[in-house]
Amino acid sequence: IDIKSLRADTGGVVTLDPGYKNTGACESAITFLDGEKGVLRYRGYTIEELAEKAHFLEVCYLLIFGNLPTEQQLNKFHSDIKAQSHVDEDVKKILDGFPKSAHPMGVLSSLTSALVAFNPSSVNVDSEEDMYKAIVKILGKFPVLTAWTYRKRMGLPLDYGGDSLGYVDNFIKMMFKKPSADYATNDIILEALDKLLILHADHEQNCSTSTVRIVGSSHAGLFISISAGIAALWGPLHGGANQAVIEMLEAIQQDGGDTKKFMAKAKDKNDPFRLMGFGHRVYKNFDPRAKIIKKAADAVLEDLGIDDEILDIAKALEKEALEDPYFVERKLYPNVDFYSGIIYRALGIPVEMFTPMFALGRLPGWIAQWREMRLNKEPIGRPRQIYIGETRRDFIPVEKR
Ligand code: ACO
Repeated sequence: IDIKSLRADTGGVVTLDPGYKNTGACESAITFLDGEKGVLRYRGYTIEELAEKAHFLEVCYLLIFGNLPTEQQLNKFHSDIKAQSHVDEDVKKILDGFPKSAHPMGVLSSLTSALVAFNPSSVNVDSEEDMYKAIVKILGKFPVLTAWTYRKRMGLPLDYGGDSLGYVDNFIKMMFKKPSADYATNDIILEALDKLLILHADHEQNCSTSTVRIVGSSHAGLFISISAGIAALWGPLHGGANQAVIEMLEAIQQDGGDTKKFMAKAKDKNDPFRLMGFGHRVYKNFDPRAKIIKKAADAVLEDLGIDDEILDIAKALEKEALEDPYFVERKLYPNVDFYSGIIYRALGIPVEMFTPMFALGRLPGWIAQWREMRLNKEPIGRPRQIYIGETRRDFIPVEKR
């Protein structure tokens, strides 16, 4: 084939792979995923071992810089982040401008892009040192924005946590600080949230991470790339699924609790309804994160003594789907979002805040992927297309159309 003449005639030879189901966009040394076997590793460490033994901040360091930190490295990292854990007072005014009913993901994405205006030096990162500065800034400020988004929604005063606290404790303190519930004192809840954040921390080239890499590939800067990642995560087919799961369970409850009816709807090809929290683009086996979080969900529910009909519906759906030929043949297992929503609900976090919690967990993954992309000096992301529109047409003036 004469490629050059083919290009001239057709616009080029390109591979067509809608949804990039089988197209690699980069080389990466961060996260390994085997969807057939249900394996997930960050920088070589299994997700099971990290969830059991590590803390979220150690995992942040591991993902971003490639190795587990020494105690000294971790302390420095934490104190650098703490030094950046404040946002300009004027950010409060921007937050004030949003209606209370605004979806927190939209607010969070906007506030994250607004941070660029207050931190212009974070955009041009020509050295690893510049990158490090931008990284600790966003790691310090993002939990504040997330907690404030929640507090604004709840009509609570905006405040900071406490200097002496750990990264996750500080976030919980800020979010739930009285007059809200004082969850920071409960170790089981803290441990479950820390685990949840670890499980969400990276998942290779998913929709939001690819977005962060592609926006970052234009050298637009870290914060704005993260803001775009938040927007991508918002959708119900991605991070928004944790909210969609609880809304679906509530709809089933309001409809009388007949799970079989909704199973039938999910299988009906003429009905757009899907069982939220089931299926995954890459996992064609049990999502290893779902296994871990299911245990943590059980511990939290037991600790809080929660008896919730919604959770009974969730368990019934899980059982039915795991035995149903439609779901078995298509390898549609419960994913991490099926259970994370259950924990958040048990903690009394409003459903609209579920996806922001996911964003907080995914933040180190987005940062690590952005940093890797910049250090690899990757070219600007720019997919091709197969043009299927009109061939050349002559212009007709408006009065003759
Ligand atoms: N309920 C019912 N049927 C489903 C579901 C579901 N949740 N998920 C997939 N299917 C069916 C599809 O209809 C399709 O059936 P067909 O072969 O008869 O046409 C088959 O399973 C394959 O589905 P695809 O849509 O081709 O799979 P894809 O990889 O494109 O989608 C996705 C994956 C988006 C996660 C999908 O399973 C889904 O919509 N799940 C519900 C939403 C959800 O839980 N998202 C969270 C994902 S995890 C995350 O982002 C952290």
